[in-house]
Amino acid sequence: MGQNTLSGETVRSLCETAVAMRQKSYVPYSHFRVGAALLTEDGRIYTGCNIENAAFTPTNCAERTAFFKAISEGCYKFAAIAISGGPEDGELQYCPPCGVCRQVMAEFCTGDFPVFLAKSGTDYEEHTLNEVLPMRFTPANLA
Ligand code: THU
Repeated sequence: MGQNTLSGETVRSLCETAVAMRQKSYVPYSHFRVGAALLTEDGRIYTGCNIENAAFTPTNCAERTAFFKAISEGCYKFAAIAISGGPEDGELQYCPPCGVCRQVMAEFCTGDFPVFLAKSGTDYEEHTLNEVLPMRFTPANLA
């Protein structure tokens, strides 16, 4: 488990935002709703949801939606992400990020980057990028 330096209120708000973003997800195929809330170093939150597609492979995960929104607006420095997922008609899970989203995190975030898997603002697991993607390939490998 991680040891973040964020305030309790910041974590609660980030997790609540991720949970709320599930309502925006477009999931006619999997019926699995995921929301994400990405906190920038300067305290802003970029949100994301999963967006599916009839051709299946163009589907974008909630986490990458949030990252790509931020990066496309010139923000590259991130403090934490909260993720919330579960079936449309079922219970929320401590939904882990997929491997592709972990690799996107590895491009922009350091090993201590906190990853919250949220069921609510107060019920969440805290991990770090180091935990969820050890021995990762990063820009440093190409330097
Ligand atoms: N999904 C995410 O949005 N994030 C993840 O990290 C795991 C999977 C989405 C993709 C797809 O729309 C649905 O969950 C089922 O795989």
